[in-house]
Amino acid sequence: SWTMAAYRQKMVEKIREQVGDGNVICGLSGGVDSSVAAVLIHEAIGDQLTCIYVDHGLMRLNESEQVVTMFRDQFNIPLVHVDASKTFIGELEGQSDPETKRKIIGRLFIETFEEEAKKLGGADFLAQGTLYPDVIESVSFTGGPSVTIKSHHNVGGLPERMNMQLVEPLRELFKDEVRALGRELGIPESFIGRHPFPGPGLAIRCPGGITPEKLDILRQADAIYLDEIRKSGQYDKIWQAFAVLLPVQTVGVMGDGRTYEFVCALRAVTSVDGMTADFYQFDMNFLGRTATRIINEVRGINRVVYDVTSKPPGTIEWE
Ligand code: XMP
Repeated sequence: SWTMAAYRQKMVEKIREQVGDGNVICGLSGGVDSSVAAVLIHEAIGDQLTCIYVDHGLMRLNESEQVVTMFRDQFNIPLVHVDASKTFIGELEGQSDPETKRKIIGRLFIETFEEEAKKLGGADFLAQGTLYPDVIESVSFTGGPSVTIKSHHNVGGLPERMNMQLVEPLRELFKDEVRALGRELGIPESFIGRHPFPGPGLAIRCPGGITPEKLDILRQADAIYLDEIRKSGQYDKIWQAFAVLLPVQTVGVMGDGRTYEFVCALRAVTSVDGMTADFYQFDMNFLGRTATRIINEVRGINRVVYDVTSKPPGTIEWE
């Protein structure tokens, strides 16, 4: 009978067979998928694996430090941390088209990664935490014409360019299965249970052009929102929850004064695999409390709205 323990063993053997005594590099994104892939591959081939964490400066509050610490200290996996935030944010400034933004991030990710891989003396294989839904959705929208909904920055381009073969041990799995595999591998529950986070990071949660200031405002609002969700015991009931900083300013009043600041949208959905999703039904008191905190604590936001769109017709992310 099929068990996750057996699947783990099967994948470990498959990885060893594919890789032999070659070297593998793995791009860590800080998310569950690439982390589970890295730990699984490390189990299979040990220090033949080196992880590269390209820090694009689009992560949430304190997230990069947490990722680096966990991999280096907890798992003892060789990890290169590249701070490329200046490059990414510099090239994204002034760009407001969603696909253009995704493509810039994808290209810079590839270039940065390639440069670091060269410094390591290259590798024979490239590991990726690609899941089954990533595979389908970047090709076409199920049941419809062959249309790209969104360019996923973790699929394509890199292996051909770098002349490396792909190692993608999660290609057959859905998200819930990846989490089960992660638990099986001994990755802490606090990490496994984390909501998915998109490769392009906060850039796609800041519709329109991004600036360091906007990203900073978004980080603060997002951290407060997630803090309230955790404190109210709802984190594990939700597939994904995040703040979006809208490129819209509205008039408000604070004390005796008029304000003219940004609108923050809050999004939370339930889902099984990310392919479809329902908006999460928060209690209105929760939303009111969270909105008040965000407006009081984050300079630059004076209005908060809640997104009640399900997928389809919406997508989970706004871009
Ligand atoms: P959408 O917005 O298409 O998102 O409904 C479905 C799921 O995919 C995540 N997502 C991404 N993940 N690279 C990723 O690794 C990407 O470019 C990307 N874009 C969206 C999204 O957060 C949701 O979980």
